[in-house]
Amino acid sequence: MELKLKSKPVNSLLGCIVAICFCTVCAAQRLCTVPPGPVSVSENNTADVQLVQVRSSSDVTLTVTVNPEDLFYLRGNALMVKKGLDYESLSSATLVVWVQCRRAGSRSVNESVEVLVENVNDNPPNFAQNHYVLEVNELTAINSSVGLIEATDVDSEPLFYRLESATDKYFRLENINTPKILVKSLLDYDVVQKISLILHVQDTFNGSASNEPFFTSVATITVQVRDVDNRPPWFQPCLRTNLGIAKLCVSSGYRGRVNLTEKEEGPLVLEPGPVFAKDGDKNRSEQISYRILREKC
Ligand SMILES: *[C@@H]1O[C@H](CO)[C@@H](O)[C@H](O)[C@H]1NC(C)=O
Ligand SMILES: *[C@@H]1O[C@H](CO)[C@@H](O)[C@H](O)[C@H]1NC(C)=O
Ligand SMILES: *[C@@H]1O[C@H](CO)[C@@H](O)[C@H](O)[C@H]1NC(C)=O
Repeated sequence: MELKLKSKPVNSLLGCIVAICFCTVCAAQRLCTVPPGPVSVSENNTADVQLVQVRSSSDVTLTVTVNPEDLFYLRGNALMVKKGLDYESLSSATLVVWVQCRRAGSRSVNESVEVLVENVNDNPPNFAQNHYVLEVNELTAINSSVGLIEATDVDSEPLFYRLESATDKYFRLENINTPKILVKSLLDYDVVQKISLILHVQDTFNGSASNEPFFTSVATITVQVRDVDNRPPWFQPCLRTNLGIAKLCVSSGYRGRVNLTEKEEGPLVLEPGPVFAKDGDKNRSEQISYRILREKC
């Protein structure tokens, strides 16, 4: 009995506190509200776009108290973006704006608006250079890499590459996303000394088929074929033949005539003559030396 009487005032007091708290929250919520959840805005927006409407009664004054990068302002109850946003130059894609709602003579309340800036493809891919020079030894094995020439793009990954079709007889790309230049067919310095390639990069797989913006870029590549000493000197004249991928030039030898027991003046006349050899590698200038190995009768 005594216990019951004592507990009653305690309960009422608790009830009062809860009610007062509740009312304070109600009052705060009524002071102003913003729709829940983040607001999205794509970069490259036009200036002065409305993000969200803050709801409040007319005697409430709104002020932007936290304004990331000074990008926002209030037009009446509308939270606006001042100018076009650039995703790439923002420190964060999520900006939190705080708005203070104040009614004269009462407490003020702060509401936050989370603004998500969405990335748009608005930058082209870029090669560090317009023109690249690569070197490759002739007879480099098929599928060996000659070089990797990558572009960068602040918006998009992966990038899509292709070699222009007229220039891709000797080289190919490892794959559409990896611009590693691989040997496609054997290079012979005698046949080709310099190859020009045109490398295209695009930041969307099939840009023209979609309505999204896309960008392309081009680099030119000169591949210089290095002459390797892969052939012996050949006695001239000779008859060129191919043996698989190897090239030969066959000489039929030289013939001369001397009369027995007669002394001959001057050089021996040979047919076809004179004795002369040329390096099988077109552009190598090493000196050729000759030596008689043995005489045969
Ligand atoms: C986006 O804006 C940038 C400057 O901020 C401009 O250079 C670019 O052309 C715009 N791109 C698009 C797709 O509107
Ligand atoms: C080169 O690579 C391609 C693709 O991986 C393969 O089909 C081909 O057999 C390779 N050629 C040689 C000579 O290794
Ligand atoms: C060899 O002898 C013949 C006849 O004796 C002569 O006509 C010819 O010129 C000689 N040959 C040489 C290479 O001297």
